[in-house]
Amino acid sequence: MKHKNIPLKERIIFALDVDSKEKAEKWVDCLGDHIKFYKVGLQLFLAGWFPAIKMITERGHKVMVDLKFFDVPETVKLAFRQLRHKNITFATVHGNDPILRAAVEERNGIKILAVTVLTSFGEEDMKEMGFAGTIEDLVFIRAKRALELGCNGVVSSGLEASRLRGDLGDNLLIVTPGIRPGKNIEIEEDDQVRIMTAQKAIINGADYVVVGRPISRAKDPVAVVKSMQNEIQKGLTAGN
Ligand code: C5P
Repeated sequence: MKHKNIPLKERIIFALDVDSKEKAEKWVDCLGDHIKFYKVGLQLFLAGWFPAIKMITERGHKVMVDLKFFDVPETVKLAFRQLRHKNITFATVHGNDPILRAAVEERNGIKILAVTVLTSFGEEDMKEMGFAGTIEDLVFIRAKRALELGCNGVVSSGLEASRLRGDLGDNLLIVTPGIRPGKNIEIEEDDQVRIMTAQKAIINGADYVVVGRPISRAKDPVAVVKSMQNEIQKGLTAGN
C-alpha cells in the first residue's frame, strides 16, 4: 500500500460537534496550530453553517461538510449546488446509484465521500434493519459502487478499511470515524461500536481519521492531538 502525500496536520479531521459558530471558533483557536481539517456536521449546520465554514476556511483550514445527503436525486443535486464556491474540500452523501450520481454531477470541485455503514451500527443493528450478510460485505459493495460512479472515496470504519484498500486500490479516499484511543479516555454513554485506534486505522489503509469526543472531552485536547499524530506517523511508517 502506498500512502498518499497528506500533511500530518490534515490527517485528523476534528468533528466540530458544537451548537454555535462562537464555540466552533474557540475550538479552531485552540487546535488550529495542530489541526488543519474540520468537520461541520448536522449540529453546527443547524446553528448557521455558512459563517462557521467561512470562519474555518478564512484561517486557511479545510472543511468536510458531513450532512450525509440522502434524498431524491434532484434534491441532492440542488443541495450540492448550494455548497458551490464555499471552499469546501469534502462532502458526504448516502444512497443508491442515482443519488450518488447526482452528487457527482454537481460536485463543483468538492470531493464526494459516500457513507457506507455508520460506525455506530453493529451486526445486530443491521439485522434489525433487515440486512442479511455481514457489515464488511455491505461496506465493500457500497464502496465499490461509489468508486465506479465517480465518488472520490468513502467513510468507513477502520475494521473494513483493509479490505477496501486491498481490493479497491490506492486511489480511493478512506475517511474513518469511530476512533478511540487505546488508553486515557473513556467516553460516557459512547455510541460508537466499530472502533479502533488512529494508528491501527492508518495501518489498515485509512487516509484520514475523524475524531470528536476523544479530543473535545479530554482534559488536555492538544496533548491528545499530539499523541494521535504521533501514532499516525508510526502507522504511516509501519511496513514501509
Ligand atoms: O465523537 P466521535 O469521535 O465519535 O465523533 C465521530 C464523528 O464522526 C461524529 O461527528 C459523527 O457524525 C461522525 N461520523 C461517524 N460515522 C460515520 C460518519 C460520520 O461517526 N459513518
